[in-house]
Amino acid sequence: MTTAAAQKVSSESAITVIPQAGYIGAEIAGVDLSAELSDAVVAEIRQALLTWKVVFFRDQTIGHAEQIAFARRFGKVTPAHPYEENPPAGFPEILPIDSRRYGVQYGRKRTSYDSSWHTDVTALVNPPAFSILRADILPTHGGDTAWTNLVAAYENLPETVRAFADTLDAEHTFESRAAQGSARAETIARKPLRTFHPVVRVHPETGERALYVSPGFTRAARTIRGLGPRLSAHVLDALWEEATRAEYTVRFRWQPGSVAFWDNRATAHLAIPDAGHLDQDRVLYRVTIEGDVPRGVDGRLSESVEGDPFYGS
Ligand code: SIN
Repeated sequence: MTTAAAQKVSSESAITVIPQAGYIGAEIAGVDLSAELSDAVVAEIRQALLTWKVVFFRDQTIGHAEQIAFARRFGKVTPAHPYEENPPAGFPEILPIDSRRYGVQYGRKRTSYDSSWHTDVTALVNPPAFSILRADILPTHGGDTAWTNLVAAYENLPETVRAFADTLDAEHTFESRAAQGSARAETIARKPLRTFHPVVRVHPETGERALYVSPGFTRAARTIRGLGPRLSAHVLDALWEEATRAEYTVRFRWQPGSVAFWDNRATAHLAIPDAGHLDQDRVLYRVTIEGDVPRGVDGRLSESVEGDPFYGS
């Protein structure tokens, strides 16, 4: 046990859960992700994930196949991404997050595909429930990732603001970050993804309410249904600020063999863009697990405007 807060899940449990920040994030020790895990260990990991929203594993020696096999213990694994056309050969589920693909922006190397707070692919009507990210090549320093707890962000709002947010729906779109005229930009333009999600979503497993907005997928449309563009922009700005307050976040320093596993129904994350000037490579691999269609507090479901649901197997 490395800290006073480290928790053995039970006296028989093999895993140790070590909280990393006040509201979010725990390291799980005592698990070898390359091994066949028992149902009991999988259940303990799932419980830690639901509690801490993102969990971290260190010193793992797994490749694509083991990462996918581990993900399958938690649900159906989706293809890499709705717009990914070049996953690693033989592994259509793996999304490479590879600085060598992204080129330079504002004179600096891009170290991830996005450098804004977002929840994975919320332009889909059924965004992934979970994501699992494994580090491969890392800069000598910088390139950390941060997560924020959207349940804490919601629960700490004043009651009147919570009641107002409960009634809202925001538009999420996939905004192409690919160069104009590129094949990828054309693919995205041909198959647009656009969905209205409740601004407050009820978690299907815990029943917790989460403030389900982040700039990544709501900043292009900047639309809350019924509020008009000016008011939508002001309300979204205020909600983004609440959702990403430093006290709800945890920051993870990647090392070779690090794996992060997060619940997209209760978090947003940020690839911190502080390593581009170093001109070093950063390569991680992500898999995502199929999600359900979000529900608001009154039971209303998200509404797809453009695009199909994204299923796994
Ligand atoms: C992601 O958004 O899934 C990747 C995060 C990162 O590059 O750190």
